[in-house]
Formats: sequence, structure tokens, C-alpha cells
Amino acid sequence: MILSIESSCDDSAIAITEIETKKLLFHKKISQELEHSIYGGVVPELAARLHAEALPKILEQVEPYFEQLKAVAVTSTPGLAVTLVEGVTMAKAISIALNIPLIAVNHLVGHIYSLFIEKEAEFPLTVLLVSGGHTQVMQVKSLHNIETVAKSMDDSFGESFDKVAKMMNLGYPGGPIIEQMAKDGDRTRYNFTIPLSQSPLIAFSYSGLKNAVRVALESAGEDDYKDIAASFEHIATMHIVQKLKKYFKTTSPKTFAIVGGASANLYLRDEIKKLLKPHNAKLLLSEFKYCSDNAAMIGRVALEMYEKKMFTPLEKLSTSAKSS
Ligand code: KG4
Ligand code: ZN
Repeated sequence: MILSIESSCDDSAIAITEIETKKLLFHKKISQELEHSIYGGVVPELAARLHAEALPKILEQVEPYFEQLKAVAVTSTPGLAVTLVEGVTMAKAISIALNIPLIAVNHLVGHIYSLFIEKEAEFPLTVLLVSGGHTQVMQVKSLHNIETVAKSMDDSFGESFDKVAKMMNLGYPGGPIIEQMAKDGDRTRYNFTIPLSQSPLIAFSYSGLKNAVRVALESAGEDDYKDIAASFEHIATMHIVQKLKKYFKTTSPKTFAIVGGASANLYLRDEIKKLLKPHNAKLLLSEFKYCSDNAAMIGRVALEMYEKKMFTPLEKLSTSAKSS
């Protein structure tokens, strides 16, 4: 069995995955959404302190598995440096105490493998990763062959939902709140501009749209919020659709996947389904419970890495906030 730990942002999670069957034997996550909600976003120092409380609590529950552990896996990058270190320190301690190898997992690769929990992986894939930290399109041929073909130049898709919700004083995380609010709104009422629509670049940008929402809010009342939310969600989604359309002109997708916390967004899912139709492409989605950060996806990557003996010596494992 492999024990896996995730603490890259505001979710403390631990999973136990069986090596031979890929079965998830245990998975628990303690989210800090409530604690960060009053601040309208994640406060790194608070997040680190909460991980230091939550991770040992979950670890206690997996003690019965300790004797059967063959490796310990942990998210090592990208993420918040002060929160990553909480998971990494725990993983190192377990590695030393149980004398088992350490597996350092990239969080973004984890999101890709969230598609394959308790399943065989299928490649090649074109992947759209939409989370709080990233908006990326990747060509994924295997665990080792991942090429990023587009990314955000500033804010990410999920982050823009968080910031819009913060501007409306609606709490954190903004994604589910704005999505819910947008359901009753008029998507056409606010004529926000699709970012980078005149640019030939296959890239994303959300800071301009966020500012357009800020300006709209200045002269809006609370009755207008649902229309602003709906118009914002529409343009934020159309931006992705437009760039993917352009990309598909040269690289038609056969199998397309949407992963990351914001892949739970139903409007985005529906619009991408429409986009894929003329390409006859298959769409892969993670189960809702595995869209946002979790340790099951880290454990799933670790299975592949364990098989290939991709272990990291303790002294080589440091955390880095840099994305890769
Ligand atoms: O993957 P994730 O849990 O953490 C990161 O790796 O960043 O993603 C969290 C992000 C947050 O920004 C959250 O607002 C966004 O995903 N999100 C959504 C939805 N659910 C979560 N964004 C849009 N629509 C949603 N339904
Ligand atoms: Zn994530």
C-alpha cells in the first residue's frame, strides 16, 4: 500500500491506495474553506497552521495500515511553499520511521490522474486544467511526456471566480457560489469583452475580465449580482472555448479531459461538450469528489511512480512554489 499526502493549498488530505489493485482503501480530506471564507481567499500562514492540526488527525486514522506501507507519497510542487512543507515534513518523518521510500508528486500531474482513480490510465489526452492556481492546456502522452501548450498570463479561471465572489462579499471559494448565482441570471445583460479575442496567442488572461466586473459592480445593486455572475461566467467560459477552437484547428482532439477544482463547473462542461461534438472527441471528467484537491489523485500518480521506482532521496526533497 502507498500512503499519500496533499497540502498544497487549503485542503489537508491523506489517502491509502493498494498497489496491486489500484483500489482506494482510505481517503479523507479536511477543507479549510470556512476558515478562509471571511478573508475572501486563502491566507497562507493560516492554511499552514490548519494543516499542522488537520494532517496528524487524519494520520491517526490510518495507523492500522502502517505495517503494510511500501512507500509514502506527497505533493511537492507547485503550491504555497508554507503549506507544502507541512505535508513534506510529515512524509519525510513517515519515510524515516517506517524505512520506506519517498515519492514526490507534482500536483498538476495529480489533477491529470484524478481521471484514473481506481482505473487504468488512458493516453494520449488533451487536457484542460482549470484550478485556483492554473489554467492550462496540456498534451499528455504519458506520465513523463506532458507538454503545456497554453497557460494563463495572469489570474487563473478558478481564481477569477474567487475574486469576483470576494468583490461581491460572498465568501470563498467563489467558484461554486458564482456558478449557483449565475443559474438565475441573464448571461447577456453585461457585455464583458472576451479576453485576448483579437490576439493570435493561444493563452489565457483573466485580470481584465475581473476588472470589468469590478467596474460593473460600482454602479450595480445586489439585484444585479446574479446577472453579473452569469455574464461573467459566460465570458470566462467563452474565453476558453474560443482559444480551444483556435487550437483545435491545428490539433484536433481525440480524447479531451477537463480536470482541476473548476472542472466541476457545469456551464464550462456543457460548453466544452458542444465544442467537442464536431470533432467526435471523447470527453473524460473526474468524479466530482476528485475535481478539487485531494490525496487520492496523489496516490494514483504514486502507483505509477512506485512501479518505475521513481523515489526521491530525503535530502533532495525541498518544496518549491514554482510551477512546472
Ligand atoms: O484544484 P483546486 O481544488 O485547487 C487548486 O489546485 O487551485 O481548485 C480550486 C479552485 C478555486 O478557485 C475554486 O473557486 C474553483 O476551483 N472552483 C470552481 C468551481 N468549483 C471550484 N470554479 C468555477 N466553478 C465551480 N463550480
Ligand atoms: Zn489543485
